Amino acid sequence: MRCSCRPRNTHDRAVCMTNCPTLIVTVGLPARGKTYISKKLTRYLNWIGVSTKEFNVGQYRRECMKIYKSFEFFSPDNEEGLKVRRQCAMAALNDVREYLSVKGGHVAVFDATNTTRERRATIVKFAEQNGFKVFFVESLCDDKDIIAQNIVQVKLGSPDYIHCNTEEAIEDFMNRIKCYESSYQSLDEILDRDLSYIKIMDVGRRYLVNRVLDHIQSRIVYYLMNIHITPRSIYLCRHGESDLNIKGRIGGDSGLSARGKEFARRLRKFIQEQNIKDLKVWTSQMKRAIQTAECLGVPYEQWKTLNEIDAGVCEEMMYEEIQEHYPLEFALRDQDKYRYRYPKGESYEDLVQRLEPVIMELERQENVLVICHQAVMRCLLAYFLDKTAEELPYLKCSLHTVLKLTPVAYGELELF
Ligand code: F6P
Repeated sequence: MRCSCRPRNTHDRAVCMTNCPTLIVTVGLPARGKTYISKKLTRYLNWIGVSTKEFNVGQYRRECMKIYKSFEFFSPDNEEGLKVRRQCAMAALNDVREYLSVKGGHVAVFDATNTTRERRATIVKFAEQNGFKVFFVESLCDDKDIIAQNIVQVKLGSPDYIHCNTEEAIEDFMNRIKCYESSYQSLDEILDRDLSYIKIMDVGRRYLVNRVLDHIQSRIVYYLMNIHITPRSIYLCRHGESDLNIKGRIGGDSGLSARGKEFARRLRKFIQEQNIKDLKVWTSQMKRAIQTAECLGVPYEQWKTLNEIDAGVCEEMMYEEIQEHYPLEFALRDQDKYRYRYPKGESYEDLVQRLEPVIMELERQENVLVICHQAVMRCLLAYFLDKTAEELPYLKCSLHTVLKLTPVAYGELELF
Protein backbone atom coordinates (compact mmCIF):
# COMPACT_ATOMS: atom_id res chain seq x y z
CA MET A 1 0.00 0.00 0.00
CA ARG A 2 1.23 3.48 -0.85
CA CYS A 3 2.24 5.55 2.20
CA SER A 4 0.75 8.99 2.53
CA CYS A 5 3.17 10.22 5.18
CA ARG A 6 4.84 13.60 4.76
CA PRO A 7 8.02 13.38 6.85
CA ARG A 8 8.59 16.82 8.41
CA ASN A 9 11.88 16.18 10.16
CA THR A 10 14.67 13.70 10.60
CA HIS A 11 12.88 11.73 13.26
CA ASP A 12 9.77 11.34 11.11
CA ARG A 13 11.92 10.24 8.22
CA ALA A 14 13.68 7.64 10.35
CA VAL A 15 10.47 6.09 11.61
CA CYS A 16 8.83 6.07 8.22
CA MET A 17 9.71 2.51 7.25
CA THR A 18 6.56 2.04 5.23
CA ASN A 19 6.11 1.92 1.54
CA CYS A 20 7.00 5.50 0.48
CA PRO A 21 8.34 5.73 -3.04
CA THR A 22 12.06 6.41 -3.24
CA LEU A 23 13.86 9.09 -5.17
CA ILE A 24 17.47 8.21 -5.88
CA VAL A 25 19.54 11.27 -6.70
CA THR A 26 23.00 11.11 -8.25
CA VAL A 27 25.70 13.59 -7.28
CA GLY A 28 29.03 14.21 -8.95
CA LEU A 29 31.06 16.00 -11.59
CA PRO A 30 30.54 15.03 -15.24
CA ALA A 31 32.23 11.78 -16.35
CA ARG A 32 32.12 10.14 -12.91
CA GLY A 33 29.93 7.24 -14.04
CA LYS A 34 26.65 8.62 -12.67
CA THR A 35 24.63 7.60 -15.72
CA TYR A 36 26.24 4.17 -15.72
CA ILE A 37 25.23 3.77 -12.06
CA SER A 38 21.70 5.06 -12.74
CA LYS A 39 21.11 2.75 -15.67
CA LYS A 40 22.54 -0.27 -13.90
CA LEU A 41 20.61 0.35 -10.71
CA THR A 42 17.39 0.89 -12.67
CA ARG A 43 17.93 -2.37 -14.52
CA TYR A 44 18.66 -4.27 -11.31
CA LEU A 45 15.69 -2.87 -9.40
CA ASN A 46 13.30 -3.61 -12.25
CA TRP A 47 14.68 -7.12 -12.52
CA ILE A 48 14.08 -7.82 -8.82
CA GLY A 49 10.52 -6.55 -9.30
CA VAL A 50 10.75 -2.96 -8.03
CA SER A 51 9.24 -0.63 -10.67
CA THR A 52 11.99 1.86 -11.40
CA LYS A 53 12.61 4.55 -14.00
CA GLU A 54 15.54 6.84 -14.65
CA PHE A 55 15.19 10.52 -15.41
CA ASN A 56 18.32 11.85 -17.05
CA VAL A 57 18.39 15.65 -16.95
CA GLY A 58 20.99 15.76 -19.74
CA GLN A 59 18.43 14.05 -21.95
CA TYR A 60 15.85 16.74 -21.12
CA ARG A 61 18.43 19.41 -22.03
CA ARG A 62 19.20 17.75 -25.34
CA GLU A 63 15.51 17.51 -26.18
CA CYS A 64 14.92 21.14 -25.26
CA MET A 65 18.01 22.64 -26.95
CA LYS A 66 18.26 20.35 -29.98
CA ILE A 67 21.79 21.54 -30.81
CA TYR A 68 24.62 21.49 -28.30
CA LYS A 69 26.81 24.58 -28.52
CA SER A 70 29.88 24.25 -26.31
CA PHE A 71 31.05 24.07 -22.70
CA GLU A 72 30.33 27.80 -22.15
CA PHE A 73 26.70 26.84 -21.81
CA PHE A 74 27.61 25.19 -18.49
CA SER A 75 29.60 28.12 -17.14
CA PRO A 76 28.34 29.33 -13.73
CA ASP A 77 28.19 32.87 -15.24
CA ASN A 78 25.98 31.87 -18.14
CA GLU A 79 22.54 33.15 -17.08
CA GLU A 80 20.75 31.64 -20.05
CA GLY A 81 22.44 28.28 -19.50
CA LEU A 82 21.55 28.29 -15.81
CA LYS A 83 17.95 29.08 -16.63
CA VAL A 84 17.59 26.29 -19.18
CA ARG A 85 19.32 23.79 -16.90
CA ARG A 86 17.06 24.71 -13.98
CA GLN A 87 13.97 24.37 -16.21
CA CYS A 88 15.12 20.96 -17.41
CA ALA A 89 15.70 19.78 -13.83
CA MET A 90 12.21 20.99 -12.88
CA ALA A 91 10.64 19.28 -15.91
CA ALA A 92 12.39 16.05 -14.92
CA LEU A 93 11.18 16.39 -11.32
CA ASN A 94 7.63 16.90 -12.55
CA ASP A 95 7.88 13.68 -14.49
CA VAL A 96 9.33 12.01 -11.39
CA ARG A 97 6.27 13.16 -9.44
CA GLU A 98 3.93 11.79 -12.07
CA TYR A 99 5.79 8.49 -12.23
CA LEU A 100 5.86 7.94 -8.47
CA SER A 101 2.48 9.43 -7.53
CA VAL A 102 0.26 8.61 -10.49
CA LYS A 103 1.82 5.87 -12.58
CA GLY A 104 2.60 3.53 -9.67
CA GLY A 105 6.39 3.64 -9.95
CA HIS A 106 8.25 2.76 -6.79
CA VAL A 107 11.72 4.16 -7.40
CA ALA A 108 12.80 7.08 -9.60
CA VAL A 109 16.45 7.73 -10.37
CA PHE A 110 17.12 11.42 -10.89
CA ASP A 111 20.34 11.44 -12.88
CA ALA A 112 22.09 14.82 -12.94
CA THR A 113 25.20 16.40 -11.44
CA ASN A 114 23.33 17.92 -8.45
CA THR A 115 26.65 19.30 -7.31
CA THR A 116 25.43 22.20 -5.16
CA ARG A 117 23.87 21.98 -1.71
CA GLU A 118 21.22 24.43 -2.88
CA ARG A 119 20.10 22.16 -5.73
CA ARG A 120 20.02 19.16 -3.40
CA ALA A 121 17.97 21.13 -0.86
CA THR A 122 15.41 21.89 -3.59
CA ILE A 123 15.19 18.18 -4.38
CA VAL A 124 14.83 17.23 -0.70
CA LYS A 125 12.04 19.80 -0.32
CA PHE A 126 10.31 18.50 -3.44
CA ALA A 127 10.53 14.95 -2.06
CA GLU A 128 9.18 15.95 1.35
CA GLN A 129 6.23 17.73 -0.22
CA ASN A 130 5.39 14.64 -2.21
CA GLY A 131 6.07 12.01 0.45
CA PHE A 132 9.11 10.46 -1.28
CA LYS A 133 12.20 9.22 0.52
CA VAL A 134 15.49 10.49 -0.91
CA PHE A 135 18.68 8.53 -1.26
CA PHE A 136 21.77 10.23 -2.72
CA VAL A 137 24.44 8.37 -4.66
CA GLU A 138 27.61 10.39 -5.03
CA SER A 139 30.47 9.28 -7.26
CA LEU A 140 33.86 10.83 -6.56
CA CYS A 141 36.84 9.99 -8.70
CA ASP A 142 40.21 11.66 -9.19
CA ASP A 143 41.75 8.92 -11.28
CA LYS A 144 42.58 10.64 -14.59
CA ASP A 145 42.67 7.38 -16.54
CA ILE A 146 39.19 6.37 -15.41
CA ILE A 147 37.78 9.81 -16.22
CA ALA A 148 39.43 9.70 -19.65
CA GLN A 149 38.05 6.19 -20.21
CA ASN A 150 34.56 7.44 -19.38
CA ILE A 151 34.85 10.42 -21.72
CA VAL A 152 36.15 8.36 -24.63
CA GLN A 153 33.81 5.38 -24.22
CA VAL A 154 30.64 7.16 -23.18
CA LYS A 155 30.67 10.89 -23.81
CA LEU A 156 32.14 10.92 -27.30
CA GLY A 157 29.23 8.81 -28.48
CA SER A 158 26.77 11.32 -26.98
CA PRO A 159 24.57 13.36 -29.33
CA ASP A 160 26.32 16.47 -27.93
CA TYR A 161 29.43 15.59 -29.92
CA ILE A 162 28.23 14.26 -33.25
CA HIS A 163 29.38 17.46 -34.97
CA CYS A 164 33.01 17.55 -33.81
CA ASN A 165 36.12 15.43 -33.95
CA THR A 166 37.55 13.44 -31.03
CA GLU A 167 40.15 16.03 -29.91
CA GLU A 168 37.63 18.87 -29.94
CA ALA A 169 35.11 16.78 -28.06
CA ILE A 170 37.60 15.78 -25.35
CA GLU A 171 38.76 19.36 -24.91
CA ASP A 172 35.20 20.64 -24.70
CA PHE A 173 34.23 18.00 -22.20
CA MET A 174 37.24 18.71 -19.97
CA ASN A 175 36.21 22.36 -20.00
CA ARG A 176 32.66 21.39 -19.18
CA ILE A 177 33.92 19.55 -16.09
CA LYS A 178 35.82 22.71 -15.04
CA CYS A 179 32.55 24.67 -15.14
CA TYR A 180 31.24 22.52 -12.31
CA GLU A 181 34.39 22.26 -10.24
CA SER A 182 34.34 25.72 -8.68
CA SER A 183 30.84 25.32 -7.25
CA TYR A 184 30.99 21.61 -6.38
CA GLN A 185 29.97 20.84 -2.82
CA SER A 186 30.47 17.19 -2.01
CA LEU A 187 28.13 15.51 0.48
CA ASP A 188 29.49 16.49 3.85
CA GLU A 189 29.70 14.21 6.87
CA ILE A 190 28.56 17.00 9.20
CA LEU A 191 26.44 19.35 7.09
CA ASP A 192 24.60 16.48 5.38
CA ARG A 193 24.47 14.10 8.35
CA ASP A 194 20.66 13.92 8.21
CA LEU A 195 20.61 12.77 4.60
CA SER A 196 20.65 9.17 3.41
CA TYR A 197 23.49 8.54 1.01
CA ILE A 198 26.34 6.46 -0.29
CA LYS A 199 29.54 8.05 -1.50
CA ILE A 200 31.40 5.86 -3.95
CA MET A 201 35.07 6.77 -4.12
CA ASP A 202 37.36 5.86 -7.03
CA VAL A 203 34.84 3.47 -8.64
CA GLY A 204 34.45 1.36 -5.55
CA ARG A 205 37.81 1.46 -3.83
CA ARG A 206 36.13 3.05 -0.80
CA TYR A 207 32.59 3.87 0.29
CA LEU A 208 30.91 6.03 2.87
CA VAL A 209 27.36 5.10 3.76
CA ASN A 210 25.09 7.34 5.85
CA ARG A 211 21.63 6.79 7.36
CA VAL A 212 20.31 3.82 5.44
CA LEU A 213 16.63 4.01 6.34
CA ASP A 214 14.93 0.99 4.83
CA HIS A 215 15.15 -2.30 3.02
CA ILE A 216 15.30 -0.83 -0.48
CA GLN A 217 18.10 1.57 0.47
CA SER A 218 20.10 -1.26 2.00
CA ARG A 219 19.68 -3.34 -1.16
CA ILE A 220 20.81 -0.38 -3.25
CA VAL A 221 23.89 0.03 -1.08
CA TYR A 222 24.68 -3.68 -1.19
CA TYR A 223 24.33 -3.73 -4.97
CA LEU A 224 26.46 -0.64 -5.52
CA MET A 225 29.17 -2.13 -3.32
CA ASN A 226 29.34 -5.23 -5.50
CA ILE A 227 29.52 -3.89 -9.05
CA HIS A 228 32.79 -3.15 -10.85
CA ILE A 229 33.92 -1.94 -14.27
CA THR A 230 36.85 -4.29 -14.88
CA PRO A 231 36.51 -5.66 -18.43
CA ARG A 232 35.40 -9.29 -18.42
CA SER A 233 33.10 -11.71 -20.18
CA ILE A 234 30.23 -13.81 -18.95
CA TYR A 235 29.34 -16.97 -20.86
CA LEU A 236 25.89 -18.48 -20.48
CA CYS A 237 24.73 -21.85 -21.77
CA ARG A 238 22.35 -24.66 -21.03
CA HIS A 239 23.51 -28.18 -20.23
CA GLY A 240 23.89 -30.57 -23.16
CA GLU A 241 20.78 -32.36 -24.37
CA SER A 242 19.42 -34.76 -21.74
CA ASP A 243 17.54 -38.04 -22.03
CA LEU A 244 14.35 -36.28 -20.90
CA ASN A 245 14.88 -33.53 -23.50
CA ILE A 246 14.80 -36.23 -26.18
CA LYS A 247 11.51 -37.51 -24.81
CA GLY A 248 10.07 -33.99 -24.74
CA ARG A 249 9.61 -34.14 -20.96
CA ILE A 250 10.24 -31.13 -18.76
CA GLY A 251 12.31 -31.02 -15.58
CA GLY A 252 13.51 -34.23 -13.94
CA ASP A 253 17.13 -35.09 -13.31
CA SER A 254 18.30 -37.21 -16.20
CA GLY A 255 21.81 -37.52 -17.59
CA LEU A 256 23.16 -36.41 -20.98
CA SER A 257 22.15 -38.01 -24.25
CA ALA A 258 24.80 -38.90 -26.84
CA ARG A 259 24.25 -35.51 -28.52
CA GLY A 260 24.48 -33.82 -25.12
CA LYS A 261 27.83 -35.47 -24.49
CA GLU A 262 29.04 -34.33 -27.89
CA PHE A 263 28.04 -30.75 -27.00
CA ALA A 264 30.01 -31.02 -23.75
CA ARG A 265 33.12 -32.09 -25.69
CA ARG A 266 32.69 -29.20 -28.14
CA LEU A 267 32.15 -26.81 -25.26
CA ARG A 268 35.48 -27.91 -23.84
CA LYS A 269 37.19 -27.14 -27.16
CA PHE A 270 35.42 -23.77 -27.47
CA ILE A 271 36.40 -22.72 -23.97
CA GLN A 272 40.02 -23.78 -24.56
CA GLU A 273 40.12 -21.74 -27.78
CA GLN A 274 38.76 -18.68 -26.03
CA ASN A 275 41.83 -18.76 -23.77
CA ILE A 276 40.03 -17.01 -20.93
CA LYS A 277 41.99 -15.69 -17.98
CA ASP A 278 40.99 -17.18 -14.61
CA LEU A 279 37.70 -18.56 -15.88
CA LYS A 280 35.29 -19.69 -13.18
CA VAL A 281 32.77 -22.36 -14.12
CA TRP A 282 29.45 -22.63 -12.29
CA THR A 283 26.79 -25.30 -12.70
CA SER A 284 23.54 -26.26 -11.04
CA GLN A 285 23.32 -29.39 -8.92
CA MET A 286 21.46 -31.27 -11.62
CA LYS A 287 23.02 -34.29 -13.28
CA ARG A 288 22.82 -32.94 -16.83
CA ALA A 289 24.61 -29.70 -15.91
CA ILE A 290 27.26 -31.44 -13.81
CA GLN A 291 27.99 -33.94 -16.58
CA THR A 292 28.42 -31.06 -19.02
CA ALA A 293 30.87 -29.32 -16.69
CA GLU A 294 32.76 -32.54 -15.90
CA CYS A 295 33.67 -32.82 -19.55
CA LEU A 296 35.49 -29.48 -19.50
CA GLY A 297 38.28 -30.87 -17.34
CA VAL A 298 38.51 -27.74 -15.20
CA PRO A 299 37.38 -27.06 -11.62
CA TYR A 300 33.77 -25.96 -11.29
CA GLU A 301 31.43 -24.89 -8.56
CA GLN A 302 27.92 -26.27 -8.03
CA TRP A 303 25.08 -23.93 -7.07
CA LYS A 304 21.73 -25.37 -5.98
CA THR A 305 20.32 -21.94 -6.74
CA LEU A 306 21.03 -22.58 -10.43
CA ASN A 307 18.73 -25.61 -10.58
CA GLU A 308 16.00 -25.49 -13.23
CA ILE A 309 12.55 -24.05 -12.49
CA ASP A 310 10.60 -26.50 -10.35
CA ALA A 311 7.58 -27.55 -12.40
CA GLY A 312 5.93 -29.09 -9.31
CA VAL A 313 3.20 -31.60 -10.19
CA CYS A 314 4.13 -31.22 -13.88
CA GLU A 315 7.75 -32.40 -13.48
CA GLU A 316 8.74 -34.97 -16.10
CA MET A 317 5.53 -34.46 -18.08
CA MET A 318 5.24 -33.52 -21.76
CA TYR A 319 3.52 -30.20 -22.54
CA GLU A 320 0.72 -32.15 -24.29
CA GLU A 321 0.20 -34.21 -21.12
CA ILE A 322 0.01 -31.06 -19.01
CA GLN A 323 -2.59 -29.65 -21.35
CA GLU A 324 -4.58 -32.86 -21.11
CA HIS A 325 -4.35 -33.43 -17.34
CA TYR A 326 -4.26 -29.82 -16.14
CA PRO A 327 -6.02 -27.77 -18.87
CA LEU A 328 -6.73 -24.85 -16.54
CA GLU A 329 -3.14 -24.69 -15.34
CA PHE A 330 -1.93 -24.87 -18.93
CA ALA A 331 -4.17 -21.96 -19.92
CA LEU A 332 -3.19 -19.89 -16.88
CA ARG A 333 0.47 -20.31 -17.69
CA ASP A 334 -0.19 -19.15 -21.20
CA GLN A 335 -1.91 -16.01 -19.92
CA ASP A 336 0.89 -14.89 -17.61
CA LYS A 337 3.95 -17.04 -18.04
CA TYR A 338 6.12 -14.85 -15.80
CA ARG A 339 3.86 -14.94 -12.75
CA TYR A 340 2.32 -18.35 -13.19
CA ARG A 341 3.44 -20.77 -10.46
CA TYR A 342 3.24 -24.52 -11.08
CA PRO A 343 1.21 -26.30 -8.35
CA LYS A 344 3.81 -27.28 -5.72
CA GLY A 345 6.45 -25.68 -7.91
CA GLU A 346 7.81 -22.30 -8.96
CA SER A 347 7.11 -19.37 -11.27
CA TYR A 348 9.63 -17.33 -13.27
CA GLU A 349 9.02 -14.60 -10.71
CA ASP A 350 10.10 -17.00 -7.94
CA LEU A 351 13.11 -17.98 -9.99
CA VAL A 352 14.28 -14.38 -10.30
CA GLN A 353 14.17 -14.03 -6.51
CA ARG A 354 16.08 -17.31 -6.14
CA LEU A 355 18.70 -16.17 -8.66
CA GLU A 356 19.38 -12.79 -7.11
CA PRO A 357 22.45 -14.03 -5.18
CA VAL A 358 23.81 -15.48 -8.43
CA ILE A 359 23.49 -12.09 -10.14
CA MET A 360 25.15 -10.39 -7.21
CA GLU A 361 28.06 -12.82 -7.32
CA LEU A 362 28.30 -12.50 -11.13
CA GLU A 363 28.60 -8.74 -10.61
CA ARG A 364 31.48 -9.32 -8.20
CA GLN A 365 33.35 -11.81 -10.37
CA GLU A 366 35.27 -11.39 -13.60
CA ASN A 367 35.20 -14.16 -16.27
CA VAL A 368 32.52 -16.76 -15.56
CA LEU A 369 30.88 -19.58 -17.53
CA VAL A 370 27.44 -20.51 -16.18
CA ILE A 371 26.13 -23.89 -17.29
CA CYS A 372 22.47 -23.87 -16.39
CA HIS A 373 18.96 -24.50 -17.70
CA GLN A 374 16.46 -22.91 -20.05
CA ALA A 375 14.34 -20.99 -17.51
CA VAL A 376 17.36 -20.07 -15.39
CA MET A 377 19.28 -18.84 -18.41
CA ARG A 378 16.32 -16.69 -19.46
CA CYS A 379 16.26 -15.03 -16.04
CA LEU A 380 20.00 -14.32 -16.07
CA LEU A 381 19.91 -13.06 -19.63
CA ALA A 382 16.95 -10.79 -18.91
CA TYR A 383 18.98 -9.09 -16.19
CA PHE A 384 21.94 -8.39 -18.47
CA LEU A 385 19.87 -7.39 -21.50
CA ASP A 386 17.29 -5.39 -19.53
CA LYS A 387 14.32 -7.40 -20.68
CA THR A 388 10.89 -6.96 -19.14
CA ALA A 389 9.02 -9.55 -17.10
CA GLU A 390 6.74 -10.03 -20.10
CA GLU A 391 9.64 -10.73 -22.48
CA LEU A 392 11.69 -12.83 -20.07
CA PRO A 393 9.92 -16.25 -20.27
CA TYR A 394 10.10 -16.17 -24.07
CA LEU A 395 13.80 -15.32 -24.52
CA LYS A 396 15.45 -17.67 -26.94
CA CYS A 397 17.92 -19.91 -25.11
CA SER A 398 18.50 -22.87 -27.38
CA LEU A 399 20.31 -26.02 -26.41
CA HIS A 400 23.94 -26.27 -27.54
CA THR A 401 24.39 -22.51 -27.85
CA VAL A 402 26.76 -20.38 -25.81
CA LEU A 403 25.92 -16.70 -25.31
CA LYS A 404 28.86 -14.42 -24.60
CA LEU A 405 28.29 -11.15 -22.79
CA THR A 406 31.16 -8.81 -23.27
CA PRO A 407 31.82 -5.16 -22.25
CA VAL A 408 30.91 -2.46 -24.75
CA ALA A 409 31.65 0.63 -22.68
CA TYR A 410 32.59 1.43 -19.13
CA GLY A 411 31.72 -1.99 -17.67
CA GLU A 412 28.46 -2.33 -19.60
CA LEU A 413 27.95 -5.90 -20.88
CA GLU A 414 26.23 -6.75 -24.14
CA LEU A 415 25.59 -9.81 -26.20
CA PHE A 416 28.53 -10.62 -28.45
O1 F6P B 1 12.30 -28.41 -21.41
C1 F6P B 1 13.47 -28.10 -20.75
C2 F6P B 1 13.21 -27.12 -19.62
O2 F6P B 1 14.45 -26.76 -19.07
C3 F6P B 1 12.29 -27.66 -18.50
O3 F6P B 1 12.96 -28.38 -17.50
C4 F6P B 1 11.63 -26.41 -17.99
O4 F6P B 1 10.46 -26.68 -17.26
C5 F6P B 1 11.40 -25.67 -19.26
O5 F6P B 1 12.52 -25.94 -20.09
C6 F6P B 1 11.28 -24.18 -19.10
O6 F6P B 1 10.81 -23.61 -20.30
P1 F6P B 1 9.29 -23.05 -20.42
O7 F6P B 1 9.18 -22.06 -19.30
O8 F6P B 1 9.23 -22.42 -21.76
O9 F6P B 1 8.35 -24.19 -20.19
